[in-house]
Amino acid sequence: MLLEKLNWRYATKKMDTAKAVPQDKVDRIIEAVRLAPTSSGLQPFEVIVVTNPEVREKIKAIAWNQAQITDGSHLLVFAAWDTYTADRINSMFDFVNQERNFTSEGWENYRKMLLNTYPQRDAQVNFEHAARQAYIGLGLALTAAAFEGVDSTPMEGFEPDKLDEILGLRARGLRSVAILPLGYREVEKDWLAPLKKVRRPRDQFVTEVA
Ligand SMILES: Cc1cc2nc3c(=O)[nH]c(=O)nc-3n(C[C@H](O)[C@H](O)[C@H](O)COP(=O)(O)O)c2cc1C
Repeated sequence: MLLEKLNWRYATKKMDTAKAVPQDKVDRIIEAVRLAPTSSGLQPFEVIVVTNPEVREKIKAIAWNQAQITDGSHLLVFAAWDTYTADRINSMFDFVNQERNFTSEGWENYRKMLLNTYPQRDAQVNFEHAARQAYIGLGLALTAAAFEGVDSTPMEGFEPDKLDEILGLRARGLRSVAILPLGYREVEKDWLAPLKKVRRPRDQFVTEVA
């Protein structure tokens, strides 16, 4: 059951350096991210999968030395578009039309509306909008990881500009948003492993408007 898996997962602090996540599991986690819904279906983010140990050492150094980055076997980097351009919007709409072999006036009007709105906006506003889509991917990745029995740690604790530099993201029109090490917990060495998962009770979290 999904809720059991979500209760099982936690933001793992110590991963076992001796255990690597099998490629088929990594592939299914990434596929869940690729299937993430995004605003207007633009998929304005990409995932960079870092396994290279030296690159992960460099990343750890600009991420509060968080050990999971190198103790895990894979590091997913969620990188959002730095802005929305007419080219990016048109590419996605053209691709959808081509894949479906179908278009409609309503869909083309929607494209025009986006073209008249997004590219003219401040790049930072566009990036922040794109970053919100990347977080949907992050949520799905950690859910899919839990489903696969794989541990992960969602992280914002890094210097995005420095990570962009390490991975050459700016040159590709991307900016890092969040990272997610994947691996397996080392229970005896993880202070968080035995502690209760804490969430506000439902009545302080949900408002019913019946
Ligand atoms: C966007 C985001 C950024 C986070 N950044 C970090 C981080 O840099 N390092 C870390 O150890 N945990 C990080 N966390 C983990 C949270 O502290 C953790 O998810 C929260 O306390 C709930 O606990 P649980 O995930 O173990 O259930 C982050 C979580 C999210 C969703």
